[in-house]
Amino acid sequence: TRPVLLDCDPGIDDMVAILTAVASPEVELVGVTTVGGNVGIDITTRNALDVLALAGRADIPVARGADRPYLRSTGDRTASVHGDRGLGGITLPTSAVGPVDATALELIVETVRSCAEPVTLVATGPLTNVAHLFAVHPEVASRLARLVVMGGSIGAGNRTPAAEFNIWADPEAAYRVLTEPGLPRPVPTTLVGLDVTYRTTYGPDDLRRLRSAGSVAALCADALEYYLAGYRRDHGMDAVPLHDPLAMAEAIRPGLVTAEPAYIEVDTTTGPSRGNTLVDLRGQPTAEVAVDVDVPSALEFITCRLASLTIR
Ligand code: BDR
Ligand code: CA
Repeated sequence: TRPVLLDCDPGIDDMVAILTAVASPEVELVGVTTVGGNVGIDITTRNALDVLALAGRADIPVARGADRPYLRSTGDRTASVHGDRGLGGITLPTSAVGPVDATALELIVETVRSCAEPVTLVATGPLTNVAHLFAVHPEVASRLARLVVMGGSIGAGNRTPAAEFNIWADPEAAYRVLTEPGLPRPVPTTLVGLDVTYRTTYGPDDLRRLRSAGSVAALCADALEYYLAGYRRDHGMDAVPLHDPLAMAEAIRPGLVTAEPAYIEVDTTTGPSRGNTLVDLRGQPTAEVAVDVDVPSALEFITCRLASLTIR
């Protein structure tokens, strides 16, 4: 089993990513770190704890990370599609366990140093904690087996016409991680962006099937139903993208997405393109960018994993 760390901002689809990880025997989820994003840090941290407890995995350490961006705030960052409490219409029982004393940065550093195997880091929120890791402990970041980031897009954005939410919420952090990593040894990095996540969707029928697949699957279906309502309202879609679960699925089963090496420039200006990821497939590569996805396999993978879990 390969060790995986998840840095996230739950978040409905972050919740589904956490559950996909704990349901997967190929990997061991060795820690969860939180970041402010979809909702503030108190709520993302509480949600991470409650989601783990729901699946009987309150033993997995959760560490609280940054609430504010790496450098510059540009107004309200929250994402209304996740609701005020971050998990849409559902309320989970409160975990008896709290976050560890270590900060997110400390937990990542300790875990990467102490794991016998190189750790895969999956990031499904704004990249603030990861940028701190790269800036403060580049030698530790260099030891990662792989970094899989849900964020960005070759085409249009979702938070603005130019920018995907996670990159938009902290473009300077994304610049540090994706454009100018500055590590002693480069880390294989895969950017799983909107080009592939908007194709990996559950429609109403998929959600109906998910609801009857098990107790945890049913809760996910309820939360995703709320998310779907947001995508209907804001984007005119009758399907909900599985952004964060797809990034996690790719980390667990490499090859679900097809990625190509690219130079990625993150726009850190303050104009209308702020947070845009400019992807040059012919440039000197800084990362790999997902250009295609095996949609049926990805959906089946996520559904089967969720169906295997029961509420503890
Ligand atoms: C990303 O933004 C967040 O709202 C989701 O959790 C996902 O990580 C999609 O753009
Ligand atoms: Ca997220």
